[in-house]
Amino acid sequence: MKKLIAGNWKMNGDKDFAGNLTETLVRFLPDYQEALKKCDVLLCPPFLHLGIVQDVIHAQGAPVFLGAQNCCERDNGAVTGEVSAQMLADFGCSYVILGHSERREYYGESDDLVAAKAKKAHEAGLTAIICVGEKEEERMAGHQEKIVGRQLEKSLPDTARADNTVLAYEPVWAIGTGKTATAADVKTMHSFIRKKLQERLEDSELIRILYGGSMKPENAAELLATPNVDGGLIGGASLKAEQFLGIVNAV
Ligand code: PGA
Repeated sequence: MKKLIAGNWKMNGDKDFAGNLTETLVRFLPDYQEALKKCDVLLCPPFLHLGIVQDVIHAQGAPVFLGAQNCCERDNGAVTGEVSAQMLADFGCSYVILGHSERREYYGESDDLVAAKAKKAHEAGLTAIICVGEKEEERMAGHQEKIVGRQLEKSLPDTARADNTVLAYEPVWAIGTGKTATAADVKTMHSFIRKKLQERLEDSELIRILYGGSMKPENAAELLATPNVDGGLIGGASLKAEQFLGIVNAV
């Protein structure tokens, strides 16, 4: 299966940063032809910088997909401050990250809300990257499969299929902390996720399951070679061209 290397820029940078980072990536990506045969590259900048990133990608005809980091669970109307899935699709996005642990934690996003957003993303023709993952205390208590299992059951809408949904396993304690789950832990969890998906989806073998949480060039090769790891959702290391390209190279 073709892997997906996705940069989640979160709320970082200004216009110049977004333009410069994209230009650097696009300039050097052709050096990674072998990797590009095996992976898709996706950039998810803040909403306001989508246009800047898109202009650079289009100007260079670069093989890079564009995605957002959130969307609204409603179609349109009086919902101040929100952006609809349809608007993202109209703008040229192909993907949207949903249910990231930062949104679940800081904005109280529930599994049900994530499922509602994912449904709107699917209706708009976007691929939803649905994030799941346990907190440190949940792992310490050995509850990681219970937590992730519940998130999977409830955060996936009935419209989910392998061609419109990507899962991202991101243990909360590994995000932005420099701590990475061991390849053994990732292997166990990704195989659990694949099994859970089998209960729901006919084409569960084809759905991509990304790992996220302090992925960097130094650990990417091992993580990406782990069974059922079909790519990475990269935060911190996606803000530095050299590191992001290092992860692409690891593919
Ligand atoms: P990180 O973030 O790579 O900085 O740990 C990953 C994510 O939150 O998507």
